[in-house]
Amino acid sequence: DRSLKIAPSILAADFADFGREVRAVEDQGADWIHVDVMDGHFVPNLTFGPPMVSALRKHVTTVMDVHLMIAPVDPYIEAFAKAGADVITAHAEAGPHLHRTLQAIRAAGCKAGVALNPATPSSAVAPVLDMVDLVCVMTVNPGFGGQGFIHSMVDKVAELRAMIGDRPVHIEIDGGITPETAPAVVAAGADVLVAGSSVFKGGSVEDPAPYGANMQAI
Ligand code: DX5
Ligand code: ZN
Repeated sequence: DRSLKIAPSILAADFADFGREVRAVEDQGADWIHVDVMDGHFVPNLTFGPPMVSALRKHVTTVMDVHLMIAPVDPYIEAFAKAGADVITAHAEAGPHLHRTLQAIRAAGCKAGVALNPATPSSAVAPVLDMVDLVCVMTVNPGFGGQGFIHSMVDKVAELRAMIGDRPVHIEIDGGITPETAPAVVAAGADVLVAGSSVFKGGSVEDPAPYGANMQAI
């Protein structure tokens, strides 16, 4: 299904109220829920691990899209799968054995994603395109929400769409997505747009209407 999907990143939500935040954005039309896992090592920030993903599972009725910004990845795949992730995305830069990591994600019963940092070329995933369900193009350097979109990544999206051909592989964009930056990546072939600050700004669990308006605007 290549229709456009909006995946709010709960990195920009109220960390003390994730359950209600997730239900609020789903009520407002979110297609997927994007969950950012950071280890303070692969990226210079910390978030949370499998217990939080497991707790979120009770509230997410759509696709739970777990973005692992951690290294190593392999020792934690089983735990994130058991916690209820639908999609597990690992970074191509997280270790020397991406092929093994992607095999392990699918063996654990999840859809497999591979993410590319801004400095990593599209060619890094050419050998594994038959083993993934999603390629995530980072349009910021991962670690923080609210950063500026790196425009030179649009060409990478177009390259990947051509490389993917007729394989059933999503192209997800992560970082700096706003109503201003979204059209170019969609035109280049992206179909899943992660958006944190631009979805959650101006709203709250008490008044989530702005979340819906923000998603519509994208
Ligand atoms: C960045 C994370 C993103 C982040 C996006 O390290 O992977 O998912 O939440 O946030 P915005 O949309 O604010 O750039
Ligand atoms: Zn992310």
